[in-house]
Amino acid sequence: MISLAVYNMKGGVGKTTTTVNLAYLCAQEGRRTLIWDLDSQGAATFYLNVEPDPEMKAKNLLKAHKDMDSLIRPTGYPHLDILPAGFQIRHLDALLEDEKKGHKRLVKIFETFSQHYDVAFLDCPPSISFLSETIFRSVDCLIMPVIPTVLAHKAFEQVRSYIQETTHHPLRILPFFSMFDWRKKIHREAFDQGTKPGGGYLRTCIPTRSIIERMGVHRAPLPVSSPKSDCVASYVDLWSEIKTNLKNPLPR
Ligand SMILES: Nc1ncnc2c1ncn2[C@@H]1O[C@H](COP(=O)(O)OP(=O)(O)OP(=O)(O)O)[C@@H](O)[C@H]1O
Ligand SMILES: [Mg+2]
Repeated sequence: MISLAVYNMKGGVGKTTTTVNLAYLCAQEGRRTLIWDLDSQGAATFYLNVEPDPEMKAKNLLKAHKDMDSLIRPTGYPHLDILPAGFQIRHLDALLEDEKKGHKRLVKIFETFSQHYDVAFLDCPPSISFLSETIFRSVDCLIMPVIPTVLAHKAFEQVRSYIQETTHHPLRILPFFSMFDWRKKIHREAFDQGTKPGGGYLRTCIPTRSIIERMGVHRAPLPVSSPKSDCVASYVDLWSEIKTNLKNPLPR
């Protein structure tokens, strides 16, 4: 199983929107795909029209390897399941810290997931915390939506340096520009800077578009709610580019 965390310490940059659309495209290709909603806002759960389990507690999540069947829900889309979240999981971070074995815990959970899934997408909350540090140590790849502004890029650089200095795990980091507007000179400059050799950014950008924002109204992935939108092609291109940049090829 390949684990992909959609992460940025900044909030509102498009992490959840990206997770839902990429996971849907991945599942559509026939891969058994899981979204693990790790954010107590439960936005991925909401977007997929799944009801969070009111009994769900953070400590249950840490035992996901023992009790997967009762925690994971089908989304109604072929090959796509979700481990939903609600406000109750807000203590996950503290629990991992108490555990002092967060990384081992996560690896164990991934081992169980890998018996059932080819790919797991983690929709991460916007923070840099013990949870995110545990994720950096445990997943195969970080997909990072970055808004093309100077401060957002600075935050990305901070996280990338931090990971390179502290994590001895061969983590692939794939940033891309989210909420991009080609009409803005500053966005075009950010693109040129980010995609030049050594810049590290993927070349596919996701535009700012109200049709993407409306996913919250339709509560469905974009290829389902607006299949004719040209924005679907942007997510298809992003997914293709991510697949070609993974260290190991995706199963199947
Ligand atoms: N490309 C886009 N164009 C226009 N609106 C977008 C785009 N991507 C996301 N949005 C909107 O921006 C808001 C934040 O998006 P999203 O929830 O995906 O971000 P997030 O990084 O997961 O946020 P959080 O940090 O709160 O978890 C949502 O209202 C969403 O509909
Ligand atoms: Mg989110």
